[in-house]
Amino acid sequence: MSKNIVVAIDGYSSCGKSTLAKALAKKLHFIYVDSGAMYRAVTLYFLRNNVDINNTDEVAEALKNIHLNFHSRDYQTHITLNDEEVSDEIRLMPVSTMVSPVSAIREVRKEMVAQQQRMGKSKNIVMDGRDIGTTVFPNAQVKLFMTADPKVRAERRYKELQSTNPDVTLEEIFENIAHRDYSDTTRKESPLMRAADAIILDNTNITPEEQLAFALAKVEPFLKK
Ligand code: DC
Repeated sequence: MSKNIVVAIDGYSSCGKSTLAKALAKKLHFIYVDSGAMYRAVTLYFLRNNVDINNTDEVAEALKNIHLNFHSRDYQTHITLNDEEVSDEIRLMPVSTMVSPVSAIREVRKEMVAQQQRMGKSKNIVMDGRDIGTTVFPNAQVKLFMTADPKVRAERRYKELQSTNPDVTLEEIFENIAHRDYSDTTRKESPLMRAADAIILDNTNITPEEQLAFALAKVEPFLKK
């Protein structure tokens, strides 16, 4: 069998990485993995169990007790934390507020990266996150780096959260996004940055259909090989 194809999609918070990744995976019949959901599920476990994120032993012990699984139904992310479906809870503000410090912990990253690399070892996969093209799959055939105006990102997220989190304000979301951009790009461990060979995709002014067509055109040459 020819080598499996990996599409790595990285970029800033809430700029539509998962929308694009899901659409692309669906179109190509690839597996879709939302790596952010993994960091979010770990954060949820830490919050529920009052894990002190500054205590390396506590973190290491907690990681041993965390079992994550993806169940893909129609390319939506369904993630279980120790067999409990947590896909909605991981999107709420308590997790969104804590996820950046948790994802900056070296032990957490080491464990998540190892799990992600196993998932993309032999299957065609689209994975989105912050360090997919730089650290998880530095040899991915296609790397996209997504960005968009922070105000536009906050407005999109605000609309998305109306049904599950109606109390949240646009200002809160804007601040959360700005804060996560800052901590994701400035952290010591695997900061968010564009891989030298990643293609920039700014979707401030383009539709989901246009960005899908753009991404498909980048993957197509590899399908023919
Ligand atoms: O994609 P997201 O917003 O659901 O990700 C949640 C957080 O997880 C984000 O603030 C940064 C972190 N993350 C990461 O550090 N590395 C990844 N590969 C994916 C997400």
